[in-house]
Amino acid sequence: MSLRTTRTRENPRVDADDWNARYRSADLVWSADANAFLVEEAAGLPPGTALDLGCGEGRNAIWLATNGWTVTAADFSSVAVDKARSIAAERGVTVDWHVADVVKWRPRGTFDLVVVLYVQLPEPERAAMLATATTVLAPGGTLLVVAHSLRNLEEGFGGPRDPAVLPTPDEVEAEILAAAAAGSGPGVEIERAGDVERIADTPDGPRKALDLLVRVRRGLR
Ligand SMILES: C[S@@+](CC[C@H](N)C(=O)[O-])C[C@H]1O[C@@H](n2cnc3c(N)ncnc32)[C@H](O)[C@@H]1O
Repeated sequence: MSLRTTRTRENPRVDADDWNARYRSADLVWSADANAFLVEEAAGLPPGTALDLGCGEGRNAIWLATNGWTVTAADFSSVAVDKARSIAAERGVTVDWHVADVVKWRPRGTFDLVVVLYVQLPEPERAAMLATATTVLAPGGTLLVVAHSLRNLEEGFGGPRDPAVLPTPDEVEAEILAAAAAGSGPGVEIERAGDVERIADTPDGPRKALDLLVRVRRGLR
């Protein structure tokens, strides 16, 4: 399936065909290990239902499923989702995989944990994706957004170089709060919003990379 979008100067979003080509270029584009911030942030949460938007080759969805979560995961790259599906099968874990554009897709039901990791979209697509992530958050649920920080352009290593796809923690926070205010149900509380450091292994040795991390909890009533 090809989920094409138009890429213009105003809309620098890389489309599904670009991502498919990238995922075809290597056995694993990303590490097989789950993201360290996800592992840290999910550690104290009782396993329930989880949604991974922009799941790539599935490292985080598979880690969650291995740790007792009932996981739904989506990515618009069919190549990535095929890889994720076969890695999950090899490891004997079940994930409900979807090939879908997370800007438009509306998953069914609500989730105790929603994760959005390194899905670097420009506006207005980012706000649409975060609105879905917020809307499907169950009462008491946690939303975790991790992304390459804008500050990497000057202070850190890696990530996209286009500022249009590098939001600040304040922007992500504002988009989530706007989505919560527009929806029904209990309000949300921002538990963490800021930049965190990660050490990236590079051919030139370890380098400091900065990631944005926003953690949100929906109230119970
Ligand atoms: C940098 S990768 C991160 C993958 C994964 N979250 C991880 O941490 O390993 C970004 C992923 O977002 C996906 N993506 C980007 N835009 C998307 C969209 N509109 N709908 C669905 N997936 C999208 C890409 O296909 C890619 O797999």
